Amino acid sequence: MARVLHVNGGAKEITYAKNSSAQKQILFLAKPFVEEALHEYFGGTQFPEKMIIADLGCSSGPNALTPALEIINVVHAQCQKRGRRLPEFMVFLNDLPGNDFNDVFTSLQQDFFSKLTEEEQCRVAGVPGSFYGRLFLSRSLHFVHSFSSLHWLSQVPPGLDAKSGAIQNKGKVYISKTSTKAVMDAYKQQFMTDFISFLKSRAEEVIPGGRMVLTFFGRMSKDPTAEEGFNHHTEMIAQSLMDMVFEGIIPEEKVDSFNLPCYAACTEEVKEIVEDEGSFVMDHLESMEVDVVDFEGDNVLLSRGERVARMLRVMLESILGYHFGMELMDDLFARHVDVVNGYLPTAYCKFTTFVLSLTRQ
Ligand SMILES: C[S@@+](CC[C@H](N)C(=O)[O-])C[C@H]1O[C@@H](n2cnc3c(N)ncnc32)[C@H](O)[C@@H]1O
Repeated sequence: MARVLHVNGGAKEITYAKNSSAQKQILFLAKPFVEEALHEYFGGTQFPEKMIIADLGCSSGPNALTPALEIINVVHAQCQKRGRRLPEFMVFLNDLPGNDFNDVFTSLQQDFFSKLTEEEQCRVAGVPGSFYGRLFLSRSLHFVHSFSSLHWLSQVPPGLDAKSGAIQNKGKVYISKTSTKAVMDAYKQQFMTDFISFLKSRAEEVIPGGRMVLTFFGRMSKDPTAEEGFNHHTEMIAQSLMDMVFEGIIPEEKVDSFNLPCYAACTEEVKEIVEDEGSFVMDHLESMEVDVVDFEGDNVLLSRGERVARMLRVMLESILGYHFGMELMDDLFARHVDVVNGYLPTAYCKFTTFVLSLTRQ
């Protein structure tokens, strides 16, 4: 996963930067939670001279730098209100090593530094590595955010990976109505293992009283096979792949041995993990719906299917291409456009996203 996964960066024709308006909506939804966490942090006795912020799963394009700018603005307003000196800021941008950090760094001057005032002193550094392990010094971080990233697992659940194939999930790429209990348990177990590792790593790195705001895709229902956003989209990917099997383009075993390393948890699962792990107090856990159809920019001229397919392609192409062959990706996503245009009702274009706000004990 760490070697293969990356969203489509600058060198690709269809990039995350131009097809991430769903995630942009999520940044907007998370903003009041970020503001509240910062108000509470600065409302107490804490007024650090230096503030260290980490964005985990920053990706590339505009969404990589917007959250840090917003945080600096909010802190600045708080300092003015309370007559305090503005802290010096350090922003760490983390993602997996395959991320297009070059794109982020080349846009820093125009999209970040030029928008800061002279008073707002900030340094920025990239931190490649998995957020499921340690990334920063002990007790060094004041504020952590991670937007639209934690539904990615660290690996395909054991047994469902291409090499082992011990658990069968025939013709599907994620949990489906036809999946066995073993498939569902393997996914849930992997999410638990990963989310606990994430919390334990951050527990070491975040100072007492420090805050985290996290958003990630989830599901409303307790039933992981319920007909909801995430499952609709994975069902349609499986359908497009199976069409290619029927036409002899892909061997059936290739689809049977592929499962996506993602999980849409339910609120009960998330709550239980946070409480059992015990390092963080849960201030908020809210679920919201986001429309994945891009309503912005040049994409509004495209069909609904094209917009949904592009949004999925920029996120999934690296891992689908690694397993099935990059040369098949144009064909796969062209089919996906037709499947969405033909079968996907407008309501089902919505994804559930969680906003989770935490304080380090
Ligand atoms: C959909 S993008 C979200 C980007 C951005 N935060 C936003 O809100 O638009 C998810 C990002 O998470 C990153 N990611 C996934 N698993 C990760 C991991 N274990 N460690 C660090 N980054 C990870 C991916 O590489 C990808 O760039």
